[in-house]
Amino acid sequence: MTYIKHLKDHVDQEITLKGWVYNYRSSGSLVFVEMRDGTGLTQCVVAKDDVSEEAWEGATSLKQESSLEVTGKVKEDERSIGGYEIHVSDVKVVQIAENYPITPKEHGVEFLMNNRHLWLRSQRQWAAMRVRNEIIYAIHNFFQGRDFVQMDSPIFTGNAAEGSTTLFETDYFEDKAYLAQTGQLYGEAMAMAHGLIYTFGPTFRAEKSKTRRHLTEFWMIEPEMAYYDLEMNMDLAEDMIKAIVKAVLENRQKELEILERDASVLEKVVSDSFERMTYTEAVDILKSDETAQMLDDMAESRRQEKMDLEKEEEKIKKERGSAKKWRKAQIDQRIKDISARVDQIEEDLRNIPTWKESARNFEWGNDFGGSDETVLMKQFDVPLIVTHWPAEIKAFYMKRDETDKLALGMDILAPEGYGEIVGGSQREDDLETLKERIEEEELDQEVFEWYLDLRRFGSVPHSGYGLGLERTVSWLCGLSHVRETVPFPRMMGRLHP
Ligand code: 4AD
Ligand code: MG
Repeated sequence: MTYIKHLKDHVDQEITLKGWVYNYRSSGSLVFVEMRDGTGLTQCVVAKDDVSEEAWEGATSLKQESSLEVTGKVKEDERSIGGYEIHVSDVKVVQIAENYPITPKEHGVEFLMNNRHLWLRSQRQWAAMRVRNEIIYAIHNFFQGRDFVQMDSPIFTGNAAEGSTTLFETDYFEDKAYLAQTGQLYGEAMAMAHGLIYTFGPTFRAEKSKTRRHLTEFWMIEPEMAYYDLEMNMDLAEDMIKAIVKAVLENRQKELEILERDASVLEKVVSDSFERMTYTEAVDILKSDETAQMLDDMAESRRQEKMDLEKEEEKIKKERGSAKKWRKAQIDQRIKDISARVDQIEEDLRNIPTWKESARNFEWGNDFGGSDETVLMKQFDVPLIVTHWPAEIKAFYMKRDETDKLALGMDILAPEGYGEIVGGSQREDDLETLKERIEEEELDQEVFEWYLDLRRFGSVPHSGYGLGLERTVSWLCGLSHVRETVPFPRMMGRLHP
């Protein structure tokens, strides 16, 4: 058996492929099967005269997603998908599929989500999962290459670490357990044993809002480093993100093309230094006249673009009547694209006044909302690291600066409106201060005694952060919603399939 991705090594040879029908077309004595085998797509051409009667019967009974084995000669063909074509000498049907629900026509999101188990076979979904896999591999590579020890932190936990409002509670024999919101506290314990560690596992938050950035089950990568301060923490996170983006650019070109992801914006992330500023500086930018002006300009250019598109649409619609068949198809496609873009522009035009208002009236001390992050990141084309946050809005475990008002936290915002991908901090390492924080937050000190032990026995300055895997996939693939970044997304209102 040969895989489609290896066709280049088999030009003019006879090979056998095993896979599924991605697309099917027949015309008289020819059948064209666009076949997929998990590694790629290729066109198989079956000519009635070249195959046995049985094979021809099989070939003509195929339908979308039927499974089959194909034997044939590999021919180079630039025009063909993937650059090769199989001149078929034999076809063996494995199973004739029933009427496949996902057709090349457009489907609504709900329908696709209900058929997620099948939707995963579509090209874009396939490409996104390959990028996800590449990111996972790059992360392990990065940390293992720096002698970090991977640790598995527990999923059943007894303490809340990221606020009590998003806890999933479950029975645990006579007790209650929570699904882990983070592995961090356990990571800190492990870091005191190994120095440099990272967790890579599922985390759970009962997010009651439906947004394009929130899942209830998501994968988080949490390194924790003994003797690292905030600065070293930032440097590590920047190096890690660069390594991930670099790996995707180098190894997943084809997938980025399928996703129509503009690689040049990602190349900048690898080559340029990230922006760094304090929360207060970021707030100043948000509230500035320049930002208001930038949003006005943006609205103006969107309006102009919309007018231009509408003019173009009018023009090609007129041309359509007398156009040849191929040109008609081209025009129809263009009209579809224009309509999608206009929808997007209209959404932006509805949003911009709200963004502007929210940015202008932003009050120091609040957390950034999704729209504030978007507006802020309109001004940068590399990730932005925001540090020194108002302590009140950050977690109890964060160390504070000398004013005692600012937490030594760092959030990393992705460019292009993909939002916060990393949250981290230097940790409070003083026993008494940490006890006070636990009391202030009205947390149960008893369940944190083990965590306090880390400050009783050889406490050291230490830092760490958490990278959200799905948000990273979403950003690198250019996907507008995290539901397409994980095989079976879990969100409010989505538990099946
Ligand atoms: O900022 P967060 O809440 O930080 C922590 O959990 C720390 N304990 C991490 C640490 O310092 N070890 O979450 C970290 C990242 C976010 O920046 C975001 O990328 C992702 O996790 N994240 C989510 N991703 C998808 N859906 C959700 N509901 C998410 N909540 C957080
Ligand atoms: Mg956060």
